[in-house]
Amino acid sequence: CGIVGIVGDHPVAERLVDALKRLEYRGYDSAGVATLDDGVMGRRRAEGKLFNLETRLAKQPLPGTIGIAHTRWATHGVPNEANAHPHFVDGVAVVHNGIIENFSELRDELVADGATFSSQTDTEVVAQLLARYRRQGLGPKEAMLEMLSRITGAYALLVMFADDPTELFAARFGPPLAIGHGKGEMFLGSDAIALSPFTNQITYLVDGDFAILGQKTVAIMDFTGKPVKRPRQISQGSAYLVDKGNHRHFMEKEIYEQPEVMSHALSHYVDLADHVVKAEAMAIDFKPLRGLAISACGTAFLAGLIGKYWFERYARLPVEIDVASEFRYREMPLSPDQAALFISQSGETADTLASLRYCKDAGLKIGAIVNARESTIAREADAVFPILAGPEIGVASTKAFTCQLAVLASLAIAAGKARGVINDEEEKELVRHLAELPRIMSHVVNLIQPQMESLSRDLSKFKDVLYLGRGTSYPLALEGALKLKEISYIHAEGYAAGELKHGPIALIDENMPVIVIAPYDRFFEKTVSNMQEVAARGGRIIFVTDAKGAAASKLETMATIVLPDVAEIIAPMVFSLPIQLLAYHTAVFMGTDVDQPRNLAKSVTVE
Ligand code: G6P
Repeated sequence: CGIVGIVGDHPVAERLVDALKRLEYRGYDSAGVATLDDGVMGRRRAEGKLFNLETRLAKQPLPGTIGIAHTRWATHGVPNEANAHPHFVDGVAVVHNGIIENFSELRDELVADGATFSSQTDTEVVAQLLARYRRQGLGPKEAMLEMLSRITGAYALLVMFADDPTELFAARFGPPLAIGHGKGEMFLGSDAIALSPFTNQITYLVDGDFAILGQKTVAIMDFTGKPVKRPRQISQGSAYLVDKGNHRHFMEKEIYEQPEVMSHALSHYVDLADHVVKAEAMAIDFKPLRGLAISACGTAFLAGLIGKYWFERYARLPVEIDVASEFRYREMPLSPDQAALFISQSGETADTLASLRYCKDAGLKIGAIVNARESTIAREADAVFPILAGPEIGVASTKAFTCQLAVLASLAIAAGKARGVINDEEEKELVRHLAELPRIMSHVVNLIQPQMESLSRDLSKFKDVLYLGRGTSYPLALEGALKLKEISYIHAEGYAAGELKHGPIALIDENMPVIVIAPYDRFFEKTVSNMQEVAARGGRIIFVTDAKGAAASKLETMATIVLPDVAEIIAPMVFSLPIQLLAYHTAVFMGTDVDQPRNLAKSVTVE
């Protein structure tokens, strides 16, 4: 969820919605805004996209120079209007991002005390508690502190009281919150980008902070009311909403942007002329390490999985990797002679952040591969490795994935160099291949686009699709399946090609196409054998290979996508392109909401 608040000197409703647009990546199930005018709290809420809220607000404007707003990604309660924030209880308005873990126990207590709930959300207990404390005679600040002592879980909260027209109250424990200092106005938002049209003077709250914002004042304290100091800094966040240019969707634009952003990412870590890794890639001393732990979620996790192959191969560095939600709770033995890498586009994913803190507590050196350089994960890491992909708006990650791969490849080469596994010549050779990526990707994306578009029509007829790959093409198979299912809603699974015979082969028939990702590498012959197994059972094959691979295989396929022959280290980036384009065109053909697929959010800040 995304939250925003303004204590202003002129009307706030439209500005709040404007800020919500920049937070829509955090969820778009429903949205709402509340303002206070002359002691009267007004509220507009709407199910679905922000556009619905805007339409409602245009018909029924809200006056007032102080207000709060919210865009939701549902956790407790279906995404209808009643469950949309802000929640109102007796002159208290609350917006919340996170989960109140003890909500059901608090709810029982409040109901026994006579409260009636009007939503199914966990958030409403916060409003109910505050209303109760206010009825008991506590002032706004005291009621807030009392409420904070009762709730557990993860939360970014913003509260407005009908009898206090000059102040907003905020608290952070988990999900991010940033205060924006304006001229005679004060702002609060889930991130600095949301506030960028208003101010670039930002104070980030940390966990356990409680803040009171006035028009010209900010008081920050802990949950006992003891003042704390937090620095004010200048945010680099751009004030401009990125647009789609000539593209139909952000996802399409981001796919086509890859050659360009790839060169930004690469040039930060490698010298594209001299073909050596730069000092930036050495921000972690890989030499003495006994091992590396990598953790992330979603697409970022799959980038990490490819990174594992590289670190182990090029740097002989053992890698432990897991999705962050498991990593954090596995209780794996960790020691300070390991380093940990966390990969996150947004830098705010709650599971990834929890894993980072777990490793930090274990004394590991922490590296963060992030797109959002001012994010919580970036701020808490010892070394930050920006991927420089620029804002990624499409919920399905594309350019962030390939830029994460570019950074991981550079780091693996740096690690190999530092550990004496690869020599100067090998370094030059590997970096030379990386340097070719922008040119090759630009060529490939245009080359295969028409074929991907026509193939998507065939693919859209199926209900299930299997992706297979070996080596680094195995995580790519997982990513292919993830891309397709998240935006086209076609059921898809990725498998290690060698695992086919251990189970999924039972599913093979003419109704489930198998997309085989197989560059002509060390594993090619083995993968072709797995393809034979599919063909022998009447399965249809979509073969994604390179020129050498196409020449070497004689199998009949439903389609063969032929990419140029490229070096092994850059194959995952190049082979990402057909996978992304196929998912994209299939979704477009099926008419789904490509940039904002149902039930998903770009950044998930609850565990
Ligand atoms: C969400 C998004 C995914 C993304 C994952 C991790 O689930 O829908 O596209 O890969 O979070 O996000 P992060 O910002 O940590 O990379």
